[in-house]
Amino acid sequence: MLIPLNGTSRITEIETRFTALFGMQPTILVRAPGRVNLIGEHTDYNDGFVFPAAIDRDVLIAAAPRTDRQVRAYALNFNQSSTFTLEDIQPATEGRERWSNYIRAMAWVLHEEGLGTQGMNCVTLGDVPLGAGLSSSAAMLVASGLAFAAGAGLELEPVRLALLAQRAEREFVGVNVGIMDQFISALGQKDHALLIDTRSLTYEAVPLPQSGVTIVIADTNKKRGLVDSEYNTRRAECERAVEILKESLPEIIALRDVSLADFERYADRLPEETRRRARHVVTEDARTLESVTALKAGDITRFGQLMNESHYSLQHDYEVSCRELDAMVEAARSIEGVYGARMTGAGFGGCTVSLVATEAVEKFQQEVPALYKQATGLTPAIYVTTAAQGAQRLK
Ligand code: GLA
Repeated sequence: MLIPLNGTSRITEIETRFTALFGMQPTILVRAPGRVNLIGEHTDYNDGFVFPAAIDRDVLIAAAPRTDRQVRAYALNFNQSSTFTLEDIQPATEGRERWSNYIRAMAWVLHEEGLGTQGMNCVTLGDVPLGAGLSSSAAMLVASGLAFAAGAGLELEPVRLALLAQRAEREFVGVNVGIMDQFISALGQKDHALLIDTRSLTYEAVPLPQSGVTIVIADTNKKRGLVDSEYNTRRAECERAVEILKESLPEIIALRDVSLADFERYADRLPEETRRRARHVVTEDARTLESVTALKAGDITRFGQLMNESHYSLQHDYEVSCRELDAMVEAARSIEGVYGARMTGAGFGGCTVSLVATEAVEKFQQEVPALYKQATGLTPAIYVTTAAQGAQRLK
C-alpha cells in the first residue's frame, strides 16, 4: 500500500499525478510528518508532559484552489477519489473514501471556528505507516489544515493549527485524543525532540545526539483493535482518580498536579485498578522530566533505563501493552548496544521505539525481526529514523 519513494521523487510523483488528474499545475504543496514518542505516554490528556519527535515520514498534499465550493481529493496511496462540498460537510461512510474524513474534518473545523475555507483540488501521498501508532492521522489532519489555510490565504500559528487538528479529530472523526500528535506534527524540529507541557502548550526543543545513538522504530504489525474503546476507558479512570484524590488534595485539576509524595500519601484511597492507572501517569510525568535532564547531561544510559521503566509501567499499571509489544521490547533489549526500548503511542499494538548505539543498528535490523517472529509468528517492520522538521508549506 505504501509508496516508498525518497523526498524529491515523491514530490515529482505527486505533482505529476496532480497535473494528470486535474489538468493544471498545483500551486500549493505542503507536508506534515508522523511522530514517535520517546517517553511520556498517556500523560497528555492528564495535562502532563510528553517528549516526542517528528519522524522522517510524512503526508504530502499538492493542491490548487477552485472557484466553487467543492473539494476534490485523490489519495495516491489508495488510488481513490473523494468529492465533497464545503456547504455541507459530512463524514464519508463509504469504506474506500474513509481516508478523506481527515480532509473533511479540517474543512469542518476551519468553518466551525469562523476561519475561511476555499474549494480545492488536492492529491495526497503519505509514507507514514497506517494504523501503526505513528500518527498518520495527525499528519493527514495537519497537512490538510495547511493546504486549506494556504488556499484561503490564512496565516495559522502552528499551535493553533495543532489545536484545530485536535478538535477536528475529537469532534468530527470521533476519537477523544490528547494534543501530543498534532502538536509535534505541526511544531517538530529537525534533530530535536520537544518536551511539551500539554497544559500550557509551551515546549522546549531538546537536541538529540547527532552521533553515536539512533532512534529505531519497530512495527509489531499487530493491528490496534481495542485502542479506541480502551483509550476512552483509561481517560475515564484518570478522571475518576482525580475526583477521589481531590477530597484530600482540593487544589488539583488533573493527575499532573499530583506529586509523587502526595500520591504515595493518598494512593490507598483509590480502588486498586484506579490506583495503578494513576500511578502510571504520576510516575510517567516524573520519568519524562528526568529523562530530559538525563539527555541534556548526555546520560543516554539513564535515558534508556527510564524508557524501560516507562514500558514496565504501561505494561503492568496502565495495561495498554500487549503480547506483541512486549515480545518486541524483549527482542530489542537482547541486542547489545540497546539503551532502552518501550512501546510508543496509544498501545494495544503498533510500534516500539528503541534507543540504539549506532554501531549496533545493523545487528538490531538483522536479529530483532527473527526473534520477534519466533515469539509471535508475525513479521515486523523496522524503521531507522531521525527527528524531522514539523509541518511546512513547500510551495
Ligand atoms: C494517542 C493519542 C495521544 C496520546 C497517546 C498516548 O497517540 O492521540 O494524544 O494520548 O495516544 O500517549
